[in-house]
Amino acid sequence: MAASIHRAKSWQQPGLEETPEWAFLNRRQLLKKLGHGAAIGGLAMAGGLSGASMRQAVASEDPSAGLYPAKPNLAYRLDRELTPEDINSTYNNFYEFGSHKQIARAAQALRVRPWTVTIDGMVEQPMELGIDDLLAKMDLEERLYRHRCVEAWSMTIPWSGFPLKALVEMAQPLSSAKYVRMETFLDRSMASGQNQFWYPWPYVEGMTIDEAVNELSFMVTGAYGKPLAKQFGSPLRLALPWKYGFKSIKSVVKISFTEERPVSFWEEVAANEYGFWANVNPEVPHPRWSQAQERILHTGEKVPTLLFNGYSEQVAHLYEGLEGEKLYM
Ligand code: MTE
Repeated sequence: MAASIHRAKSWQQPGLEETPEWAFLNRRQLLKKLGHGAAIGGLAMAGGLSGASMRQAVASEDPSAGLYPAKPNLAYRLDRELTPEDINSTYNNFYEFGSHKQIARAAQALRVRPWTVTIDGMVEQPMELGIDDLLAKMDLEERLYRHRCVEAWSMTIPWSGFPLKALVEMAQPLSSAKYVRMETFLDRSMASGQNQFWYPWPYVEGMTIDEAVNELSFMVTGAYGKPLAKQFGSPLRLALPWKYGFKSIKSVVKISFTEERPVSFWEEVAANEYGFWANVNPEVPHPRWSQAQERILHTGEKVPTLLFNGYSEQVAHLYEGLEGEKLYM
């Protein structure tokens, strides 16, 4: 981790994913909060799992297992091959379980039943419902989505779930509601990373209502034809494939409709680097590295990044008239 501190353009170097930006930020934030140059101690380090044991760990006892595989929605196919499950499920960002990629084993501590989702704020129909009741109300489908991390690596994933629009329609937001705010669980005894006091737990993300009802906004409940593995943010996470991956909040417990723009977790940590909009744009570099290319995680190949991660047709119109905003960071 220490080596990454001196990196100016980490995306250009092979093996970026081994010394991730998130680890860099973690250290920097710690030093900032401590107010001196203390060395990092006590960061949660978890061992990796082999692909085979990972697959076994994937939700075999999950009560929703019978809902998968969900029917493919053929409107969401891709021109790239899928990231193998073994690779995806052993390389994750889930800071609640550690500030590095090998959190899969530690994330098995996540208890996903009972799991209550609260929908509140400026809505006609505030409600609390168990995840299995929510699943029963929704039509599940499978979509193949690109997933582009701000750290400049990418994957291609078969997510299962339901359009966020269906949940918004169920909640019936008031006309004064402008944003959707989502929040992850807070349980320090279960998630060792939440003892890292310098982070603003719980993890929060937000989007406009127009973004939330866009056809691409997807509530993910499964992957690779099964219930979501814990390290992916089980039992309910978001996928906004035209935005950098940090917008895709994991393990959601609360969905609130607000008039004010929510401040997200990474925005609170470093607003000059991780903004509210975070739309993918190869021409707008991160303050410390280029976003022009991305590294396909399972091949190592570097390919050009596309505007809105290749989803311009579906989302570009959302940003017309907002050119004065920092849309691409
Ligand atoms: N959600 C929570 N609750 N905690 C996190 O640390 N990391 C984000 C996002 N959602 C994160 C989160 C980041 S930085 C990315 S890139 C993606 O999850 C990673 O998703 P993946 O592990 O499925 O690739």
